[in-house]
Amino acid sequence: MQENVRPESMERITTPELANAFIDEQVAALQAQIGDKNVLLALSGGVDSSVVAALLIKAIGKQLVCVHVNHGLLRKGEPEQVIEVFRNQMDANLVYVDAVDRFLDKLAGVAEPENKRKTIGAEFIRVFEEEARKLDGIEFLAQGTIYPDILESDGVKAHHNVGGLPEDLQFELVEPVKLLFKDEVRVVGKALGLPDNMVFRQPFPGPGLGVRCLGAITRDRLEAVRESDAILREEFAKNGLEGKVWQYFTVVPDFKSVGVKDGKRTFAYPVIIRAVNTKDAMTATVENVPFELLQHITKRITTEVENVNRVLYDLTPKAPATIEWE
Ligand code: XMP
Repeated sequence: MQENVRPESMERITTPELANAFIDEQVAALQAQIGDKNVLLALSGGVDSSVVAALLIKAIGKQLVCVHVNHGLLRKGEPEQVIEVFRNQMDANLVYVDAVDRFLDKLAGVAEPENKRKTIGAEFIRVFEEEARKLDGIEFLAQGTIYPDILESDGVKAHHNVGGLPEDLQFELVEPVKLLFKDEVRVVGKALGLPDNMVFRQPFPGPGLGVRCLGAITRDRLEAVRESDAILREEFAKNGLEGKVWQYFTVVPDFKSVGVKDGKRTFAYPVIIRAVNTKDAMTATVENVPFELLQHITKRITTEVENVNRVLYDLTPKAPATIEWE
């Protein structure tokens, strides 16, 4: 087991060569730690869990069981990409759990932001626990803990006070990237052959689109968030903003306003666009998106996304606003 302190002598992983040396070293260490036992991993498709999955697939192949829980709050195309990359391309042992209805049923009527987070976190643990119980011979639990998680908390990825797996499911932990910073995890991910849009993707909160569909989540507004976010991402990528802007997304509030379409009055939701830059997420400035691009995105969202008749651009820095709306 590695210590939780990064040795002063540890070189920063900045090149493919250094990443390959790290990968070789970790593969050998993982094989020695795990032997012929089985390992369980919650694979969200985020950078950290994806890199851990790719490392473990290299080290122990099918002894790794990846569980991907689709809670219905992922961005458009994300569950499909996890299946494509890990099951089809890397031949991983991947359990895909469609828990969409289950999460949305649990979240029905839950409007308070922290309550929503707790509901999502608690349900996630429950689904993961059920999957873990179906499997035999698991002795290890892999986690995408990275060094900032250790520096900032107790070393366990926060689940918003919902606790972890129960006593009888306490596995030995495998945390192969726990001494790495985010930029190093990305270099390792690239060296492991993960696609760029997985390795360099913008930060995405654990509760996903759930905190961008404001108030109590409804299916129509959740789809409006997902579809408008997909259009925003597509347009930012086309217009050279993808790697430039730190975080960008859409938000759908829980009120309607009056509009007009084909000569008829509409009563539909607004979509709010947010695009910010920051170093550490403690403060943030608003990206100066070209007005013509905002107009083009507005046109696309109001014509392509159902139940939407208005688009707004959030001009507020952090502080006084936060990056997310909830
Ligand atoms: P705020 O809204 O606090 O966000 O300015 C700062 C950064 O944290 C992300 N964020 C979250 N990440 N779980 C997460 O994993 C959460 O509940 C959560 N809330 C905010 C946010 O996307 C931004 O990058």
